[in-house]
Amino acid sequence: MSETFTLAAATPAKVSAAVATPSYPTMRGSETDSRRIVDPASASAYRLRHVLLQDDIAAEEVMDLLKKGKLLFTEVARTFSSCEGTREKDGEVGWLDFANYDAPDHPLDPCLPLNVRSLLCNPDADSDSDQVKMKPGDITKIKSTRGIHLIQLVDVMVNVNNKTKKRYRAKGNTWETAVDPSNRNQKQLYYSMDTMGCQMNTADSERMKGQLESLNILPLPPSSPSTKADVVVLNTCSIRDHAEQKVYSYIGPHAKRKREGEAVSIVVAGCVAEQEGENLLRRCPEVDLVLGPQYANRLGDLLEDVSNGNQVVATEPEFIVEDVTKPKRDSKTCAWVNIIYGCNERCAFCIVPSTRGVEQSRTAESILEECRNLVADGFKEITLLGQNIDAYGRDLSPKRKFSDLLTMVGEIEHLERVRFVTSHPRYMSDNVVDAVAENPSICNSFHIPFQSGNDKVLREMGRGHSVAKYLKIIERIRKRMPEAGITADVIVGFPGETEEEFSDTLKLMEEVKFDNVNTAAYSPRPNTPAAEWDNQVSEIEKNDRLQRINRLNLKHAKERRSRMVGRTEKILVESRNIKNPVQVMGRTEHGYVVYFEGDIQELEGGLVDVKITASSTYSLTGERALL
Ligand code: SAM
Ligand code: F3S
Repeated sequence: MSETFTLAAATPAKVSAAVATPSYPTMRGSETDSRRIVDPASASAYRLRHVLLQDDIAAEEVMDLLKKGKLLFTEVARTFSSCEGTREKDGEVGWLDFANYDAPDHPLDPCLPLNVRSLLCNPDADSDSDQVKMKPGDITKIKSTRGIHLIQLVDVMVNVNNKTKKRYRAKGNTWETAVDPSNRNQKQLYYSMDTMGCQMNTADSERMKGQLESLNILPLPPSSPSTKADVVVLNTCSIRDHAEQKVYSYIGPHAKRKREGEAVSIVVAGCVAEQEGENLLRRCPEVDLVLGPQYANRLGDLLEDVSNGNQVVATEPEFIVEDVTKPKRDSKTCAWVNIIYGCNERCAFCIVPSTRGVEQSRTAESILEECRNLVADGFKEITLLGQNIDAYGRDLSPKRKFSDLLTMVGEIEHLERVRFVTSHPRYMSDNVVDAVAENPSICNSFHIPFQSGNDKVLREMGRGHSVAKYLKIIERIRKRMPEAGITADVIVGFPGETEEEFSDTLKLMEEVKFDNVNTAAYSPRPNTPAAEWDNQVSEIEKNDRLQRINRLNLKHAKERRSRMVGRTEKILVESRNIKNPVQVMGRTEHGYVVYFEGDIQELEGGLVDVKITASSTYSLTGERALL
């Protein structure tokens, strides 16, 4: 359990400080197969698209174009398919139910004959076929008497209850849950949601809010304290120990309310939920639902279980279904769009792969559909999200490339700005840099963590890249886009880091001069290799390095912003300046925050020319330019 996790307990002194390269298993790239998490036992239906072609050569050519990302499945269906029933619907077949796939006169007979359906649905149909191992996004080729079917698995319906652990909570005790139907009938329910951590969590929270509101559970009015909420959701982060410890102090007052007889439902979501699982219920028995990040789309279903008197733990590795409910977006202008969930890397310090699971790319079709719908709803900026965004598509069959997807999103009409996070220096390709340089709507802005400026430390971290490789990427960006904004993440005091190795990190920062670096002192995390090494750097040393690196970061951030004074920049207006209501807040394409006087009603979502008049460490001030 994390609360009893101490450095001493986690340091069995097995690994000596002299060992240069740690010998833990890596799970990079295709070595980790996310097909394994599509468990046929809990799947009940597949949603499919298909294309019917008449000969093998055409099928091979089309597969090749799909593999190279030159065509989308939906385009192939519209252009080449000889299936009249589905051609006009972008190849959409609909749901194929496992239970009755072999029924006589099946409604899908006209497009998918029995032999095709049985290969897809019956795990015993053909032990050599790989169809049963399909996962959303994959495309497979199956022959029938009608021709050659290219079939894309779009989504899987899973009985999520089979994957959760439940504990029945006896009725009649004082720990009532607010989502009990009797409580719901009596009054309007309100939720509060607090979000810690990264953009992934922010995006997950928006999805969970959407689901709660579709159940008619409304957001608590801003003036009410969270202790007035009937459903309390805490979306947690476990990237560093202090983030994790906040969880328990947050739950405290709500657990007390519950013990005192208030009907309140307590949900702990996010990475601490995944990491702690049932332990959370042991430590806080008042909690109703422990929900790992892979279940963020299923909050509604799982609350139903809670309303039946259960305490539920949903942390089993799970493939992530496409959204059925609309997220409730925090902004009307800027939206997050997940393109790949999870991470297959094994950075020796990082807990994310064990809390967010293996990589799962969404199909390009569903990503583009979501982006187009956002534009139709008036959104102007989209940020594509992935823990390692450059890994996008390597888990799909056929594989896809992130640079191709980025270009496709960048070409969406009326979408003003596209951003993306997070790039991994090991995988980031020149094609990505080129796509940004060549597409005017993709912001010249990059977030590329470097973690350390020393090759030995990078090797021990298991990052898979050198300092030289990192600098080469920066050089290419600056050559093609000299003004590009570049931000990064770094860790100081990684086990074994010497003063000299730390000074290499400062040197790298001097060389690049970042617009901002998220700095962190290394925090040992449970179930990560580096936490067990016996060469931990002392807390005093880590704090000292953190302060020194923060000073350098502030200096560079200030210098970088000061060069903007006197220039006129296009600012996408996002909100009012909460500290000064006569001002609005927006960003330059590099990502710099800019404040200027203006009316938010008039300007929100607009691109405004602003002359920059002053700069500070993390923001700029300006005035509307008279052109
Ligand atoms: N893949 C994303 C990325 O590269 O930014 C997300 C990783 S994590 C959510 C964000 C950052 O947290 C990492 O880049 C790393 O600098 C920092 N981090 C991760 N584990 C850490 C640890 N154990 N101690 C301190 N910082 C950590
Ligand atoms: Fe993945 Fe964490 Fe490394 S999210 S890329 S294991 S920093």
